Amino acid sequence: MLSEKDFIAVNYTSFVQNGSFEWSAPSNIALVKYWGKKENQIPANPSVSFTLNNCKTITKLKFEKKENNGAFSFDLLFEGQPKPDFRPKIEKFLQRTEQYLPFLKEYHFVIDTQNTFPHSSGIASSASGMAALAMNFMSLEKQLNPQMDDAYFYAKASFLARLGSGSACRSVKGNVVVWGEHRDFTESTNLYGVEFPYVLHNNFKNYQDTILLVDKGEKQVSSTVGHELMHGHPFAQQRFAQAHENLSKLKDALASGDLDAFIKITESEALTLHSMMMTSMPYFILMKPNTLEIINRIWKFRNETNIPVCFTLDAGANVHVLYPENDKVKVLEFIKNELVAYCQNSQYICDEIGNGAQQIA
Ligand code: PMV
Repeated sequence: MLSEKDFIAVNYTSFVQNGSFEWSAPSNIALVKYWGKKENQIPANPSVSFTLNNCKTITKLKFEKKENNGAFSFDLLFEGQPKPDFRPKIEKFLQRTEQYLPFLKEYHFVIDTQNTFPHSSGIASSASGMAALAMNFMSLEKQLNPQMDDAYFYAKASFLARLGSGSACRSVKGNVVVWGEHRDFTESTNLYGVEFPYVLHNNFKNYQDTILLVDKGEKQVSSTVGHELMHGHPFAQQRFAQAHENLSKLKDALASGDLDAFIKITESEALTLHSMMMTSMPYFILMKPNTLEIINRIWKFRNETNIPVCFTLDAGANVHVLYPENDKVKVLEFIKNELVAYCQNSQYICDEIGNGAQQIA
């Protein structure tokens, strides 16, 4: 396991004048949720997620050595157009990562980014976006230090992505990623995400995630504010302890293929996340009436058919419908016949678990 000191760059052995890289990084969906953090993006509890496959950010990074090393210098394009609203997030990312990437002020960067999922679909792009950016900076660091090995490359990319947005550290690798110290995972750390170290049961191979877009509006609470509300939350300590227990149980379910246990933990985690928001001060309800309609219809369908389909939620109204690949035809028919009516403009996205960030040649 690497420590924070290991990520402080050594003296670089190569000189790089200019160039470009391009990486895609996927979104991820947490099963055991991260909600609450300490200083420097350290999670208050461990979490585990499925890495997705289709919902991705693709980011090209061009760089050119510059004369003056006094400040960060970058152009930011989103889908080919300048995007001033995204600049503060990038600026903050550069500030937080500079001590680990000491070359950041030596180059002018052009960051050219796009998502494969619709903009403002309510799907957070911060995880995929920060992961894609971190991969590119690591490619540049690897040119400056060609001896770097792959294990370090990916661990540091996840470490940097975490500094941009906590859950982004789980978007570097696939298919199942654990982030945060946990007794059952000897390599687990608060500093970066690690691949699930047990064999994933066949029931979960190509596990499906159909994302129902219930409400595409701006998020009512940013995750920064949400995490903050766990400080002094009356149920915080209980919740953090529960996340540890749920991660143990989920580990067993993922390894043994126990779909009933998987469903219980996953749905309970989603509702717990929302309960934390409903019981904080100020309080929020992030579900919409259609979210509840969908949940009830999933429960009814599961009872009637015995098909092991379940849901999870992010910090918003959209519903992730999770199910085994074997049941894809029947579940998609159910979604089209019964659930699409509750989606905004009938929109949904078909995704499944995937392998993490990929370099684009
Ligand atoms: O990565 P952040 O700070 O945007 O927090 C994400 C928190 C949840 O998406 C609600 C849960 C999780 O573990 O991904």
